[in-house]
Amino acid sequence: MNKTTYGAHPSREIMLYHLKRKRGDWVSGQFLGEQIAMTRTAVWKQIGALKKEGYVIASSPRKGYRLLEVSERMLISEIRDGLKTRIIGRGEARHYEQTDSTNNRAKEMAARGAAEGTLVIAEGQTKGRGRRDRRWFSPPAQGIYASLILRPSLLPSEASRLVLLTSVAVVEALIATTALNATIKWPNDILVGGRKIAGILIEIATEMDAVDYAVIGLGVNVNIPGDQFPEEFRPQATSIFAETGKPFSRVLFLRRFLESFECYYDLLQTLGLGPIMTRWKEMTDMLGKRVSVRTIGGHYTGKVVDVDQDGFLILRDEKGDSMRIVSGDVTIL
Ligand code: BTN
Repeated sequence: MNKTTYGAHPSREIMLYHLKRKRGDWVSGQFLGEQIAMTRTAVWKQIGALKKEGYVIASSPRKGYRLLEVSERMLISEIRDGLKTRIIGRGEARHYEQTDSTNNRAKEMAARGAAEGTLVIAEGQTKGRGRRDRRWFSPPAQGIYASLILRPSLLPSEASRLVLLTSVAVVEALIATTALNATIKWPNDILVGGRKIAGILIEIATEMDAVDYAVIGLGVNVNIPGDQFPEEFRPQATSIFAETGKPFSRVLFLRRFLESFECYYDLLQTLGLGPIMTRWKEMTDMLGKRVSVRTIGGHYTGKVVDVDQDGFLILRDEKGDSMRIVSGDVTIL
């Protein structure tokens, strides 16, 4: 597990800042050395490290260094470059080349006291998981695998509010950055053209009668070609690349998601769930549809009449009886 903690290489961050400011222009080794109070040889070594991180940098013995392309990897410094949040994605953050599940890493950090807003990212996951312990396909560098630690003032029974608000933030980020017509499928799926493009896995720890921490796990299929999904996923899965035909910047999407997330998380704390539910209902096309829902305890059919403040799905069957369902797999009939 190759882990990078943000802030481990401040001199590299400073050099990158200057190279980006003069992107496309030459920046002398002497100038960079002065900024980080190091020799030109040390600058050269740090440039080598940046290249290893995926930055494309031209070097010339007389002119110095020129940044040609920023890294495609989900480096914390790239995510934070221009990120307009106060807490979410700030403070502690970790980037893994590969890990079993970013939710596992985030839960460990939260149990050790990590603060609200802590972010864990991986380029790839070996045991990415979804709801009901299903596998989440997590090929390296082609998707977003991110987990966020929260410390909300919520009762355990209110935790599903976090799923509702995360879904709204994901759809908003997808529409803003890709213009794809994304919709929410209760409880935690984000669809484009009826196929799943993103999923949310929220895990909570409770203490007494309150949520101690929540880990918001987000998986987004970004640059996975449609035919590269394993057969078990292929009929129901899609990606930004499969929908638009173009590769897309994972960093750009994640940054926008974190900003939307913080905005709705603030709203939840100030105005409650009302405004979020209004957005949620605008973003789903399930309302009024006939569905069948498979839950752990049974199988129900009816018309979707609402999703209530606790995140329960409200169905009405042929006889006019209402059912309130906490979680399940929905098929639109
Ligand atoms: C689902 O659709 O059931 C939820 C999928 C959630 C996948 C993400 S990827 C990052 C985080 N780590 C995991 O192991 N799962 C979540």
